[in-house]
Amino acid sequence: MSDKIIVFDTTLRDGEQVPGCQLNTVEKIEVAKALESLGVDVIEAGFPISSPGDFQSVVEISKAVSKPVICGLTRAIEKDIEVAAEALQYAKRKRIHTGIGTSPYHIKYKLNSTPDKILERAVAAVKYAKKFVEDVEFYAEDAGRSDNAYLAKVVEAVIAAGATVVNIPDTTGYCLPHEFGEKIRYLMEHVSNVHKAVISTHCHNDLGMATANTIEGVLNGARQVEVTINGIGERAGNTSLEEVVMILKSHKDLPLHTDINTKQIYKTSRLVSSLMNMPVQPNKAIVGRNAFAHSSGIHQDGVLKNRENYEIINPKDVGIKESSIELTARSGRAALKHRLKILGYSFARKELDKIYDRFLALADKKKDIKDDDLRALIGKATRKDHKIHLELLQVVCGKSAVPMATVQLKINDEIHSATASGNGPIDAAFTAVKQIIKRKVHLEEFLIQAITRGSDDLGKVHVQIENRGTLYYGFSASTDIITGAVEAFVDAISKII
Ligand code: KIV
Ligand code: ZN
Repeated sequence: MSDKIIVFDTTLRDGEQVPGCQLNTVEKIEVAKALESLGVDVIEAGFPISSPGDFQSVVEISKAVSKPVICGLTRAIEKDIEVAAEALQYAKRKRIHTGIGTSPYHIKYKLNSTPDKILERAVAAVKYAKKFVEDVEFYAEDAGRSDNAYLAKVVEAVIAAGATVVNIPDTTGYCLPHEFGEKIRYLMEHVSNVHKAVISTHCHNDLGMATANTIEGVLNGARQVEVTINGIGERAGNTSLEEVVMILKSHKDLPLHTDINTKQIYKTSRLVSSLMNMPVQPNKAIVGRNAFAHSSGIHQDGVLKNRENYEIINPKDVGIKESSIELTARSGRAALKHRLKILGYSFARKELDKIYDRFLALADKKKDIKDDDLRALIGKATRKDHKIHLELLQVVCGKSAVPMATVQLKINDEIHSATASGNGPIDAAFTAVKQIIKRKVHLEEFLIQAITRGSDDLGKVHVQIENRGTLYYGFSASTDIITGAVEAFVDAISKII
């Protein structure tokens, strides 16, 4: 059996089903190209019969992308299969993904049918899809809750009908990892023609077990994983690509690998997050903002001695420049000394002790300590080091109004003003700020979170910007989210200047 795990990405199909995540065709092509350079083997580009937009996207992605197999989803219905075949006509390598529910719930309550009739429909769908394409994948929907003996019968029949891949979805995210692994093992051992097809996993994260189940699947014989970037997807999402890929890469003891160019992971994650308006939770494994940030003194000291003391992944392997050492009240002398060294200052032990005491006093008042704070702390603050301050912000917005913003910034004691329009008040204000600072900054992340639920509560704003290849973070908390957003943006910019 091959050691290569085929990566089937369904960000543009299962991921795109999420409310609010819909993309237009141009955006889908951008994501598909990013997935191609990431090195995925299969892109599930859409469900062509579901809407004219989905149909067109599958057509355009088929034209724009040439290396991965392009796949279109269908139900076990002839019309669906015909429409998918038409949408895939320009794909260099194409696959139809057809299927039907095999669990008692789906057979009885969703399809109002019987196990024998479902088996017949499954075989007929695969045979019909084979008339259009060579590569046909069959999914046994809700396989996670299907009876293993019946599932094996269906899998054997669809492989005999020509299925090249058989997908075993845990549609409701119910299975325990060992149960899902046993299901795959059962199929590997009880389906006589299983060697003629690839068995695929497709796990959902309703109980937070999608990645664990997928890994159990491959450990028991599955050779394709169906995943999405950032784990987006129906309800609690799908298995996340970056987690599975980095598990296989980190565990050198496992004889399994993917062809993913892991250095593209972070970039792709950001692209999907921003196009789909789906913020990545800060503590998300591999791609969350805090995935490589160390804040406790013991951990910072350990990482500075040897990164591997507290990191199992080199951030560079996923395209993140470096781990970050956040200076907070929990930081120790080692972290402070390290940051001061980066800023070009070194101190003897006694002097460092004094600076450390002043640092702790400041850190008790201020959540995180920035470079300018450190310079001020050691008496090196100069006019040049002064931050930029937001002096005034005035916005015009509302239904039918053209969003406009006037911004005044105080830079080195001088007031600078600009007025700009935008697609909303925040966009207008950011444009005005950029006009004043006259630098190319690219907004990489923009996250607004309500601290509690009331309309009068504080909103926290995190901003990440890029300037000449370096990332800068900005933060603010305000009851006025527009002011908070602009303050966070200015906070990030003040670190460049
Ligand atoms: O979760 C699921 O069962 C699916 C199938 C349509 C493959 O997304
Ligand atoms: Zn799914």
